[in-house]
Amino acid sequence: MGAGLDPRVLRAIKVDLPKDRGHGDFATNAALILAKPLGQPPRAVAERLVALLSDPDLIARTEIAGPGFINFFLREDALSRRLGAMRSDPRLGVPLAPRPQTVVVDYSAPNVAKEMAVHHLRSTVIGDAVVRVLEFLGHKVIRANHIGDWGTQFGMLIAFLEQREGGDASAQGIPLGDLEAFYREAKRRYDEDEAFARTARERVVALQHGDPHCLEMWRRLVGITMEQDQRLYERLDVTLTPKDTMGESMYNDMLAPVVQDLRDKGLAVDDGGAVVVYSERSRNKDGQPLGIIVQKSDGGYLYNTTDVACVKYRVETLGADRLMYFTDSRQRQHLEEVWEICRRAGYLGEGVETEHDAFGMMLGKDGRPFKTRAGGTVKLSDLLDEAESRVRALLAERGTPEGGNLDEIAHHVAIGAVKYADLSKNRVTDYVFDWDQMLSFDGNTAPYLQYAWSRVRSIFRKAHEQPGEIQVGTPQEQELAAALINFPSVVGEVAQKAMPHLLCAYVYGVAGLFMRFYEACPVTKEGVDPAISRSRLALCDLTAKIIERGLGLLGIRVMEHM
Ligand code: ARG
Repeated sequence: MGAGLDPRVLRAIKVDLPKDRGHGDFATNAALILAKPLGQPPRAVAERLVALLSDPDLIARTEIAGPGFINFFLREDALSRRLGAMRSDPRLGVPLAPRPQTVVVDYSAPNVAKEMAVHHLRSTVIGDAVVRVLEFLGHKVIRANHIGDWGTQFGMLIAFLEQREGGDASAQGIPLGDLEAFYREAKRRYDEDEAFARTARERVVALQHGDPHCLEMWRRLVGITMEQDQRLYERLDVTLTPKDTMGESMYNDMLAPVVQDLRDKGLAVDDGGAVVVYSERSRNKDGQPLGIIVQKSDGGYLYNTTDVACVKYRVETLGADRLMYFTDSRQRQHLEEVWEICRRAGYLGEGVETEHDAFGMMLGKDGRPFKTRAGGTVKLSDLLDEAESRVRALLAERGTPEGGNLDEIAHHVAIGAVKYADLSKNRVTDYVFDWDQMLSFDGNTAPYLQYAWSRVRSIFRKAHEQPGEIQVGTPQEQELAAALINFPSVVGEVAQKAMPHLLCAYVYGVAGLFMRFYEACPVTKEGVDPAISRSRLALCDLTAKIIERGLGLLGIRVMEHM
């Protein structure tokens, strides 16, 4: 039924766990969403769906409610069997994608000779979680770290390097910890000193013409920045490696042929010296078609020219079926212009999905853009240092757990907290960075979930029985069970919508239902029937596995003792 439907329609379909179990174990709005594209009344679609989805081994009965919601009631024994199967499956019941795609995920994308700052954190952390989920589902993922490693600023940086080093230019002398200051000083010099600015402009031209000396210095600047960024990726437990770097410079040789091709196709025209493509979709403020410049009158290319070449490369050379861009919401118009040009030029066929997986800004607690006290950009490495020292202080209050390693706990809790705080909010909205909230051991936070996991694991150290066959009995067991079997569908939804917060909310929900179950249902207590004890241990085990895998897909570690 899904074939040929707009992916946006499919994305609107939801499967919920009704709060009131009188409405079933699952409910879906699928019939309401599909009614329009199918041109049929929702209740008629619901009836067809119910017939299609009937699975007597799993579903006891279904119910069509209201305008066309479908409620499913699971068979109790089916639930137990399904949970047992999930527990013994290394994939925890998550099926591989029936039609694996080649997905190019554009994320992180810091700029050379600049410190990676907090706004790159969002792209890096959210993009990396989605990458992990897509790979887990069997898609071929190509990580594309579209770093800002080309452009006129390199003339200024090279000229500045030369002068600092007294003619014998080398990037060796750049203080590793302070690229930002290096950049700032170069810029000041450029703005204040006309002779310096002239040299800088000469260096740009030399660099663009492949002058070996300029290229060598440019390479060093890129190398130093990326070495630093790589250390941050490792510290953050992000899966990006140097081979994923596909920066702007990579497309340099493709720009002239692309602009020529756009001209040949009649899309790009000369306009006052510049080369422009007129939009068919967007208008300028005078109501005329918007002119998108792809080559400046001085012959230089722009950020969007690179992105046009980049789409062409990703589709034609990398064979992408889906292009994902994790950049902040302000780049929406830029991307839409690029895609429009690519569609009209035939670089982007019907079968390729493009999506701007936009995110909002990172704000301080005062609701203003997140800055240092002095008003500067916050360095990511400083931020992570602070997270670790705050966690150490909190752990000192709690006392080191037996068998735990303080350094390891502090590191994983701090990194987990920072990442989870970002991941757990709907990425579309702005996000308020709040230390107290993210480091709390209560609520929807990484420390809470990491701790919940270690508590579930600790049950096994006291148990006399082994986990066995699951029999879902009490209401608390039923609720937990119904949530656990929903794991595969949540993972699928995260991949489709590129929304890791859905997985966070799910794992948090599971942890809460587990706590309720654990309070109400003795697991290892003296006097509990051994068969029930084994069943409950199996529920504990599956819960632990799902929390661990859920957090793992988000890029967050768990520790046995904490
Ligand atoms: N380097 C850019 C920035 O810092 C982000 C690049 C996003 N990707 C792209 N293909 N334009 O804002």
